[in-house]
Amino acid sequence: MKKNIVFVIILLVGIGLGAGVNAQQDKGSEIVIFEKDRMPQVTFDHHMHQEKLDNECSACHDLFPMQAGIIKEMIAEEKLKKQQVMNEKCVKCHKDRKKEGLAAGPTSCTACHVRGK
Ligand code: HEC
Ligand code: HEC
Ligand code: HEC
Repeated sequence: MKKNIVFVIILLVGIGLGAGVNAQQDKGSEIVIFEKDRMPQVTFDHHMHQEKLDNECSACHDLFPMQAGIIKEMIAEEKLKKQQVMNEKCVKCHKDRKKEGLAAGPTSCTACHVRGK
């Protein structure tokens, strides 16, 4: 009986610690740069998107994991096509939200691929 109580206490402490870790989830870099290729560089405000999307991380990270440089890596390994993130995430969400009358980011090439960068 006593053993069971000790076990329950350990379990509760464990859950408490787990919740603490979740609250401090690694939000990654504030800004992510997609380097110039054929098109100019794209500057992506990662933390602003997290905020505007109510911390719905899966809005992007269901396509690629939370790891710096992973998009480039997956494109090199042919696990993602070039422009797949742009088409299936960035531009798609902005278009869908605009259609729904919600605040949205740009859909014109040069608004994201800023000239001179
Ligand atoms: C609108 C898209 C989007 C959303 C939403 C998003 N991320 Fe990211 N995240 C990215 C991109 C793009 C990268 C960069 C991947 C790369 O470098 O290839 C990234 C990378 C990361 C990384 C790796 C470190 C870094 O900054 O490169 C972490 C950690 C991360 N995100 C955490 C989160 C968490 C936590 C949330 C939700 C609270 C979240 N992200 C929501 C797009 C997003
Ligand atoms: C909402 C932002 C956004 C808009 C709008 C946008 N792009 Fe992109 N584009 C990106 C991001 C981010 C990447 C890198 C990730 C990827 O490859 O999916 C990219 C990658 C690319 C690439 C592959 C890399 C390179 O430079 O060769 C091409 C080509 C490209 N975009 C062309 C365009 C064209 C043309 C338009 C307009 C019709 C456009 N993009 C509009 C964000 C955007
Ligand atoms: C799930 C929806 C969603 C996705 C995915 C998304 N965005 Fe956005 N984007 C938004 C919203 C919402 C805003 C803010 C609109 C406002 O409140 O002004 C925004 C704003 C922007 C802006 C204008 C503000 C600024 O930072 O200059 C840019 C540029 C932008 N997004 C680029 C991107 C790129 C690049 C990607 C892909 C890596 C991306 N977005 C993915 C929803 C999204």
